[in-house]
Amino acid sequence: MKSLTSNQIREIFLNFFREKGHTVVSSSSLVPSDDPTLLFANAGMNQFKDFFLGYKKPKYTTATTSQKCVRAGGKHNDLENVGYTARHHTFFEMLGNFSFGDYFKLDAIQYAWELLTERFQIPAEKLLVTVYHEDTEAYDIWKNVIKIPAEKIIKIADKSEKYISDNFWMMGDTGPCGPCSEIFYDHGADIPGGPPGSEDEDGDRFIEIWNLVFMQFNRNENGEMEALPKPSVDTGMGLERISAVLQSVHSNYEIDLFQNLIHDAAQALKCKDLSHSSLKVIADHIRSIAFLINDGVQPSNDGRGYVLRRILRRAIRHGYKLGATESFLMPILNSLAKNMQEAYPELLTNIKKIEKTTLQEEDKFFETIANGMSILEQEINLTKKNKSTMLSGSVAFKLHDTYGFPIDLTADICREHNITIDQAGFDQDMAEQKNKAKNASQFKAKDSIVIDIDPTKFLAYTHNEEFSTIESIILNNEPAVEVSANSTCNLVVKESPFYAESGGQVGDTGRIFNDQAEFVVHDTQKLPNGVILHIGELVRGQLKIKDPVLCQVDHIRRDSIKRNHSATHLLHKALKTILGDHVEQKGSLVNEFRTRFDFSHSSALSETEIQQVEQIVNNEILQNNPTSAEVMALDKAKKSGAMMLFGEKYDDEVRVLTIGNSKELCGGTHVNATGDIGLFKILNESGISSGVRRIEATTGVSLIQIIDKQNQLLNATAKELKTTKDDVAEKIKQVIDQVKTQEKTIAQLKQKITNASKNDLLDQIEVIDGTKVLSTNIDNMEIPQLRALIDDLKNNIGSGIIILATINQGKINIAVGVTKDITNQFHAGKIAGQLANMVGGNGGGKPDMAMAGGQNINDLPEALIKIKKLLNS
Ligand code: SER
Repeated sequence: MKSLTSNQIREIFLNFFREKGHTVVSSSSLVPSDDPTLLFANAGMNQFKDFFLGYKKPKYTTATTSQKCVRAGGKHNDLENVGYTARHHTFFEMLGNFSFGDYFKLDAIQYAWELLTERFQIPAEKLLVTVYHEDTEAYDIWKNVIKIPAEKIIKIADKSEKYISDNFWMMGDTGPCGPCSEIFYDHGADIPGGPPGSEDEDGDRFIEIWNLVFMQFNRNENGEMEALPKPSVDTGMGLERISAVLQSVHSNYEIDLFQNLIHDAAQALKCKDLSHSSLKVIADHIRSIAFLINDGVQPSNDGRGYVLRRILRRAIRHGYKLGATESFLMPILNSLAKNMQEAYPELLTNIKKIEKTTLQEEDKFFETIANGMSILEQEINLTKKNKSTMLSGSVAFKLHDTYGFPIDLTADICREHNITIDQAGFDQDMAEQKNKAKNASQFKAKDSIVIDIDPTKFLAYTHNEEFSTIESIILNNEPAVEVSANSTCNLVVKESPFYAESGGQVGDTGRIFNDQAEFVVHDTQKLPNGVILHIGELVRGQLKIKDPVLCQVDHIRRDSIKRNHSATHLLHKALKTILGDHVEQKGSLVNEFRTRFDFSHSSALSETEIQQVEQIVNNEILQNNPTSAEVMALDKAKKSGAMMLFGEKYDDEVRVLTIGNSKELCGGTHVNATGDIGLFKILNESGISSGVRRIEATTGVSLIQIIDKQNQLLNATAKELKTTKDDVAEKIKQVIDQVKTQEKTIAQLKQKITNASKNDLLDQIEVIDGTKVLSTNIDNMEIPQLRALIDDLKNNIGSGIIILATINQGKINIAVGVTKDITNQFHAGKIAGQLANMVGGNGGGKPDMAMAGGQNINDLPEALIKIKKLLNS
């Protein structure tokens, strides 16, 4: 009988549970939409997390899915195992059925058994099961209801502590969890490996094919188990593993899905050995690559993007191992998209985007891989020679830093030689580099200052000015009790309306003054202990500790900063809308003139995309909706969908800014209503590193100034062109066309003149002792022209000597040409030498072409005559 294809198996699974009343739900994106705690979807239950926790009520109480999963980073990470076992993948599909407070252990077990033994007709004797050691209920169901022999029901205990067990499933460090019961398939005695719980359980003989999790708890941040509102069920069966069983093969890589990919990879790499493990790695990784890019992930140096980069580079390295020196992944991607189009048509729809991102990364890594590999190979040999099994951490760091080798890639290569990496050494080099970068970017004066007082009362959100008293004076980095005029120093006041530089927004400027003194604030910075430093100069009078002062921010500047900052939020949101959810903020700088916003995106924005982004932002401005800033618990902020940076550490309480349709965590100062921004325009768009783009934009006053300036320029141009502003472009086109026509005419005229003078020159040729000779002067020629003319004349006369002199800017240049047929009689270099002697300069060159120079202009006419006489001497 022909075995079922993976596509059919997926269908049968979903249909089986549909028949049992489950709602078929589509796979969620690999990038969890509102869960920064989770790197990628790693199980079918992720998208239902809030249902299990009782935070949200589903429209259905039972569901079934085929979920895209990536386990490469985070709590569940199989990256290292790929290529070494028959059953691990970075990307796989998880078939699952779920009950949200509906059925529990009995039904879950009965459904699983029915599907496996009746629908899929797997012989019961090939299956065995495990249960959590304390779960007598599940044990009894298997034994008494399903009637599995007791020796085939294995109890799995805790490891180091309670609930740390292969049979207690947790999504991550926090979240829904519970005891589980796993179903194993015995691939036969000829495959090495022991049953679950035995010492050699990691072999490939007994393979877990289905995990039935009985969700009972929520593990909170303190590690405590809270009972869930309703016991639920979450099951997961790897499509690839069940396909291996049903297609009677012992490795996932032998199933239909992978065989196609392995063949394509072999073809792309011209590899004849289809069992080569590198082909398996590529076949596995190509799936992660395609699905991650499709779901908006872009290769980068942190977070999700870095996991993708590591997978991509590992795939590239395995291609390199098989001889590739340039891009090879394209055809494999293409056939993957075609093979999977039944279940995932979006891969084919988005293939261009997927290919482009992949190709960029391939091109980039192929630039450095050869050099990196040769260094690594040398170091591995050295390590072996020194009888060591550990590669130096600094070598691994250098490979990472200079050659773009992620540490796990280096480790993977070393592992092939039974060598490990000195991780501590690597971490130390990494930490040092980070420190250097940090130190270099910090504000030096601020760093050396320590002031042990209470934090300054921060009023910038609500005030432009405030009466206060001087708390501290820092003069030459030392505390002082007073300061007098013309001193540069730092002031600390009790309460301050000044915003200290943070989150990309520059510090405020302004003045701090009273009747006797005036201090001009050039910048505002904050110390780690919350003390705000006003950095500037006392321009008048004297100030001492406890003096009352009025602190006044330059509110015109501050207003411009606010406009640019609020516009940055709208820009961020608009970029996500137009370019996609992969857009992530990579850095920003907001000052009174503009906003500079760096973000992840792989290619330059088109003019249309820029216009669309501007339009969205300007529409928001025109709506003139009030903005709001609300301080709330981090959890609430996450739920509200506020944008936050992945991997960033936030406090428990955060400030959520709502500006138009954007919701973002931010500590900056902002406009009261979007209309206050006035107008928004992108000034520049560029790339700053691979996968990172930069937009510079501005608003309000600066933009009005720019528009004014451009208008003046346009007016002046129109005036100069004697036309109206509207017709400037047309007029310039006309002028350019006119110039082109005139250039053509000039070239034609020049040619005519050259021809005429050439004819003139040809007329001057004399025949001396049977040799044609031309020796004359033409004014104001450039050397290249002179040489070109010599060649031309040589062609014309066929055989002879041409001597052309020119006086240009007071200097003599002479070119001498001798046709090849007579160079045995006359040597151009020698003739040039003789001429040079006569005009007070130097000369020489080859037998057929030579140059002479000189200063004595008055001697030139005679020299040109005399040389003719000397020719035969
Ligand atoms: N969440 C469980 C697992 O991933 C069952 O789906 O194994």
